[in-house]
Amino acid sequence: MTTIDTPVEHGESEAQARFDELIASDARIEPRDWMPDAYRRTLVRQMSQHAHSEIIGMQPEANWITRAPSLKRKAILMAKVQDEAGHGLYLYSAAQTLGITRDAMTEQLIAGTAKYSSIFNYPTLSWADMGAIGWLVDGAAICNQVPLCRCSYAPYGRAMVRICKEESFHQRQGFEILLTLMRGTPEQRQMAQDAVDRWYWPSLMMFGPPDEESPNSARSMGWKIKRFSNDELRQRFVGMLVPQAEALGVSLPDPQLRWDGERQAYEIGPIDWSELHEVIAGRGPCNAQRMQRRREAHEDGAWVREAAAAYAAKRAEAAA
Ligand SMILES: [Fe+2]
Ligand SMILES: [Fe+2]
Repeated sequence: MTTIDTPVEHGESEAQARFDELIASDARIEPRDWMPDAYRRTLVRQMSQHAHSEIIGMQPEANWITRAPSLKRKAILMAKVQDEAGHGLYLYSAAQTLGITRDAMTEQLIAGTAKYSSIFNYPTLSWADMGAIGWLVDGAAICNQVPLCRCSYAPYGRAMVRICKEESFHQRQGFEILLTLMRGTPEQRQMAQDAVDRWYWPSLMMFGPPDEESPNSARSMGWKIKRFSNDELRQRFVGMLVPQAEALGVSLPDPQLRWDGERQAYEIGPIDWSELHEVIAGRGPCNAQRMQRRREAHEDGAWVREAAAAYAAKRAEAAA
């Protein structure tokens, strides 16, 4: 793999030219390579937000572990929530290669200065929500994340390969929960439909604002961090959902949804962005609860961090 010498040796403009060349030729940037500050900052922000989302995202589903309807469902849900913890850890590790510490990222999350995906600020009201989250939220995550496997920053791309494999299992288990409910009693079918009605629009909003309101998107695409625009990915997601909704027998809560033969794509009804802006502004249904739980978990885990640090110091002493 080609590497870029430090700007001290060759001057910043030469390093920049080599960086541009690597990006243009679809080569990957490794942590040791020179990179523009803005590229580094963008990645730190995106990767840490992504890691925080995985960690906060454990909460809505953890809410149902004790109430899962069978031992099998409980075991599957626990495994899924553990996978999300793992995703957070891979991503914190990948972000650390950019020079930020995990402690600093955690501090930002605890202090409320870092963002995470707003989808996790919605409550999980019924067991069917476990199905709708897997099908819709993990489904949207896959659409977003599969192209990230080819992200120009190599550690991020490598982390995403494993994450995407697990996300596709998550999506299938969600689909299967909904399918089981849809084959059940009228009440169970109603519960599944209600969950889809509540999670559908927030899952479309996971792709971010429309392209014309997403000024940083073009720059991220130029750097090959992002490969497709928000609207392209949202479109692709809806295209994937429609046949799956038919197979499930659920309806998608968009009366204006229709196939546009000319564009060979689905026409999506208007999205109520004001709702998303409220959630982003911290006024979503569960923002305060999610943050409080995260802070408590951090405090409750202090003894584990202290014990691990003491053990590591002891081992280092013994090895010296
Ligand atoms: Fe995940
Ligand atoms: Fe997942």
